[in-house]
Amino acid sequence: MSERITLGSVAGLPEGRGIRVDYGEHRVAVFRVGDSVYAIGDRCSHAEASLAEGELFDLDVECPRHGSEFNLETGKPASFPATKPVPVYDVEVEGDEAFLVIEDEEATQ
Ligand code: FES
Repeated sequence: MSERITLGSVAGLPEGRGIRVDYGEHRVAVFRVGDSVYAIGDRCSHAEASLAEGELFDLDVECPRHGSEFNLETGKPASFPATKPVPVYDVEVEGDEAFLVIEDEEATQ
């Protein structure tokens, strides 16, 4: 089972910077790149800085604290000091509306 959380219209999401979405235990960083919307765990796997506050370079977001870059499609860090990936969440787009999908097995991440 999964939960769908509305993110509003795709065009209404900021481009080039993230927004943070809190849902229960989940802290999610959402990014729009053109017409695509990506969602990864907001807590940097190194020291929990907010990735939603990071700077975006193509499909990589740079952690604002120590600079590791995380890929929006895989959640994997491309540079130190982070070594562990962050969760990747599904985003569904219907018409102009975007929805964040949270699966049950992600409930403790
Ligand atoms: S908190 Fe993100 S790299 Fe250190």
